[in-house]
Amino acid sequence: MTMETIERPGLQGVVAAETRLSRVDGERGELIIAGYALDDLAPRATFEEVLFLLWNDRLPTQREYHDLRAQMAAQRALHPQIEATLHAVANAGIPLMDALRMGAGLLNLSVSADDDPQQVALSIVAALPTILAQTIRLRAGEEPVQPHEDLSHVANFLYMLDGAKPSDPRVRALETYFNTVVDHGLNASTLAARVAASTGSDMVSAIVAAIGTLKGPLHGGAPGPALDLVFEIGQRKNAEPILRQRLEAGERLMGFGHRVYKVRDPRADALNSAAEQFFVGGLQADLYVLARHVEEVALRLLEEYKPGRRLQTNVEFYTALVLHGVGLSTEIFTPTFALARAGGWTAHVLEHMANGRLLRPLARYVGTTDRHWTPLVDR
Ligand code: ACO
Repeated sequence: MTMETIERPGLQGVVAAETRLSRVDGERGELIIAGYALDDLAPRATFEEVLFLLWNDRLPTQREYHDLRAQMAAQRALHPQIEATLHAVANAGIPLMDALRMGAGLLNLSVSADDDPQQVALSIVAALPTILAQTIRLRAGEEPVQPHEDLSHVANFLYMLDGAKPSDPRVRALETYFNTVVDHGLNASTLAARVAASTGSDMVSAIVAAIGTLKGPLHGGAPGPALDLVFEIGQRKNAEPILRQRLEAGERLMGFGHRVYKVRDPRADALNSAAEQFFVGGLQADLYVLARHVEEVALRLLEEYKPGRRLQTNVEFYTALVLHGVGLSTEIFTPTFALARAGGWTAHVLEHMANGRLLRPLARYVGTTDRHWTPLVDR
């Protein structure tokens, strides 16, 4: 019996797994996270609530919520050998995404393949911000700040970066960002995690595969350049001439366009609201007003230069603004994305461990078939 084969380069349009975690509807511009519309969930929930929702398919009771917070807080401190390795990693100037991937790989020192998979998921998600924050501080020649048990996951991340308790608006803005990007269908890094899990491999290996995949600029890398564009424009009057010049030169405007979302990117809307709340009335209110103007001009010019392509603002435009607003430098944007997406990765791995099948597509052979062996001495 021969198996029917369909060629879909890049696996576009292929449904490779079932999930209850998120639904991406590009034509309607909708993102559902475990049953909740993104704009209902993201600005209200804590990240711990979203993690519980993804891992258990329901929101936690108050008691479950406090238990989860306490359990995560208890898993934040790193094994001494991981801390020692991070010193070496920082001294070598290894890029942050590589440092995060290397640190994640060492989490086998504190979790065992025999542990309950959800417990392993919790330990990994809890420890990743410590790995990142310690590496950042060591690279800057500063002492690492040990995790604070009383703070929430997101607040503690900011605390470990700065050594000071963050303000509530900063935490809320970053928490909305974490919730907004926690999961997004079978994106490349989530697929990588599920492929690893589908072979019967372990949670740590799956997360290492996912971090390595997110590192690529086609997946996790656009928010830095989107913000650079706003900074380069600098003043309202420069927006139109600079954007026109870019489009005349055939360049792409960073932070616009999306393969799936053709109406609107709901994540951009959620983060725009977060940015508005955070910036308006604050010290950087002018930056938010300028960014809104840049967006307005960009959308008008994209319609003029690329009519009918339905190019809308994407998640990266407002990601840049929110992360900059809460005080993160562009170098930290992609690894911070990884900290948030780790919630989705672990949930997908748990889902695949429970009911997934080995992911094993085919490749069409395009090489030659008429070669004959020549012994080494004759070559
Ligand atoms: N600026 C100017 N023109 C654009 C842009 C843009 N940002 N995006 C697409 N176009 C144009 C293309 O030049 C093309 O024009 P053509 O028909 O004259 O050749 C047309 O729109 C369609 O473009 P495609 O490349 O086919 O669109 P695709 O769906 O493959 O690309 C992508 C999506 C990669 C996001 C693209 O819109 C882009 O490069 N955007 C800028 C980079 C960016 O913001 N990336 C982050 C995306 S969000 C995320 O991945 C999490």
